[in-house]
Amino acid sequence: MQLRSHYCGAIDASVLDQEVIVAGWVQRRRDHGGIIFLDMRDREGLVQVVCSPTLAALFNLAESLRNEDVIQVAGTVRQRPTGSVNTNLASGLVEIVATTLKVLNKAESLPFPLDDFHQVSEEIRLQYRYLDLRRPEMLARLKLRAEVLAYLRNYLATNGFIEVETPYLTKATPEGARDYLVPSRVHHGAFYALPQSPQQFKQILMIAGLDRYYQVVRCFRDEDLRADRQPEFTQLDIETSFIDEIGIQELMEQMIRGLFWQLLQIKLPQPFPRLSYNEALRRFGSDKPDLRIALELVDIADLVQEVEFKVFADHANNSSSRIAALRIPGGAKLTRQEIDNYTQYVKNLGAKGLAYLKINAQGSASSPIIKFLTPAVVNNIIARSQACPDDLIFFAADQAAVVNATLGGLRLKIGRELNLISNTWQPLWVINFPMFEKGDGRLLACHHPFTAPQLNDLADFTQHDPLTLVARAYDLVLNGSEIGGGSIRIHDLALQMAVFALLGIDEQQATEQFGHLLQALTFGCPPHGGMAFGIDRLIMLMTGASSIRDVIAFPKTQSAICPLMNAPAKATLGQLSELGIKILKTNHEIHR
Ligand code: AMO
Ligand code: AMP
Repeated sequence: MQLRSHYCGAIDASVLDQEVIVAGWVQRRRDHGGIIFLDMRDREGLVQVVCSPTLAALFNLAESLRNEDVIQVAGTVRQRPTGSVNTNLASGLVEIVATTLKVLNKAESLPFPLDDFHQVSEEIRLQYRYLDLRRPEMLARLKLRAEVLAYLRNYLATNGFIEVETPYLTKATPEGARDYLVPSRVHHGAFYALPQSPQQFKQILMIAGLDRYYQVVRCFRDEDLRADRQPEFTQLDIETSFIDEIGIQELMEQMIRGLFWQLLQIKLPQPFPRLSYNEALRRFGSDKPDLRIALELVDIADLVQEVEFKVFADHANNSSSRIAALRIPGGAKLTRQEIDNYTQYVKNLGAKGLAYLKINAQGSASSPIIKFLTPAVVNNIIARSQACPDDLIFFAADQAAVVNATLGGLRLKIGRELNLISNTWQPLWVINFPMFEKGDGRLLACHHPFTAPQLNDLADFTQHDPLTLVARAYDLVLNGSEIGGGSIRIHDLALQMAVFALLGIDEQQATEQFGHLLQALTFGCPPHGGMAFGIDRLIMLMTGASSIRDVIAFPKTQSAICPLMNAPAKATLGQLSELGIKILKTNHEIHR
């Protein structure tokens, strides 16, 4: 007999009165006084199967079925009697009256019920990922992921981009994380690095004349994991020649707008707003602001230069400090306890405290620090922050970076907790990033060392304080999440060497690490640039998932373990000796 004629989820009124064969999993068996109903499930959905006692053998077999057994049913599709119609189901108007039933495979009782997965830890869900993925919600996310990739590939191919695969066994390329290393058996003591991104290869492809490249590519980064970070993740990686940042942004915007419209019927704004890095920090305390929250930071250092409150006075005249206010509409109703919780929250982010001012219903202000402030200062602060009766204003005074991190974080937390997040989609470009940031005693590249500065003239470039240099880099942010980033690249050898020098990479190191790229720059390198999207993060937003792990078929835990395969695992002594590797004893046993 044919194994299947239709998917369970495809049985509807269009096949009424037809003979069908379906195959799938028993989702539930219900014995109804002499009649057995089976909910049968496959990839496409559920269908109800009726087993009548008139077919005794079939009925007896149905009685023995357990959840998740794999069965095959042949039968006739009929209308459900009125009263038993299920409008929540695509197949809810009809049911299959079984004429044959076959058990294709029995299932043991499951380690957790599929409809009650909240009861078990994520580690157990990942250990039995094949069961977890049987849940329709998980399957729907994987389906959407496939549709997104198909859409993106099609868009890029239509726009003249050529898909090229670049190596996974390669040499380190700096993106700010640690490398995963793979030992070479034939070259003892030498290691491949798994790519943190194909950055250098895609630039080399531009030098090769490909003009427009893309790749759906796995990237590997050994870094601290969070809800939106995995050690291996997927990028949509893109590079183009003879184009500037505006040209790239337009192409990418059009792609993302089309994607959201086609797959989710969501209209994103045209064009996406652009915000400079400095403005983003000034107004939102973050370089990936969530524009769904209407709260903004306001500078008040100039208003409190003369006050007696030491916390303010210390920072009011310090150029690396910032004093900012965050108005919370209706915040006067916050309780002492809630304010204490917010204070503790910002302290955990590095603040020393959190001052505040309440505006009561009549418009007068009260605050633990009001004794330090003259009425004129209070009025100026209220006017500057546009506070109204019943509002509350929080203040942070500290090094600018601390104020941004703490008030930026508080803005998100309060936005969530007071339901101030609008039900909209808010994409934006963050542009004009600095070239460099301060690391411990040295400069680090804000994006990566191949990013071009806005000052292209080498003589000009070397004259400037590196920390004031602005990069031709841009990020695409959606609802407060960085979904992509890129830049125009350096295509001139001397400028690339000057950037390496500022990063503390001398000529010899530059040649050792990047000699291939540096040489390639001398053989006719076109001006070029590009960007890469974090596909997992994008899908996470599109599906509303709360963790990146929910949109990856086989993700790793927060401690970079795959509980399904039990990776990483120890190598055998034989493998190690072939590789010439000896494991040193350390205190770090693999934690499970
Ligand atoms: P960048 O490092 O900004 O740029 O990475 C691009 C995008 O990849 C996503 N992403 C991640 N997603 C999940 N887990 C991670 N650990 C992770 N790290 C990054 C983010 C990010 O915006 N070569 C450059 C791109 C370029 O310049 O063209 C690069 O890799 O969404
Ligand atoms: P103190 O004088 O330290 O008791 O602080 C008085 C008020 O100012 C308290 O509400 C503190 O939480 C707050 N505060 C202390 N340091 C800071 C700071 N750096 N920025 C903002 N508020 C602060």
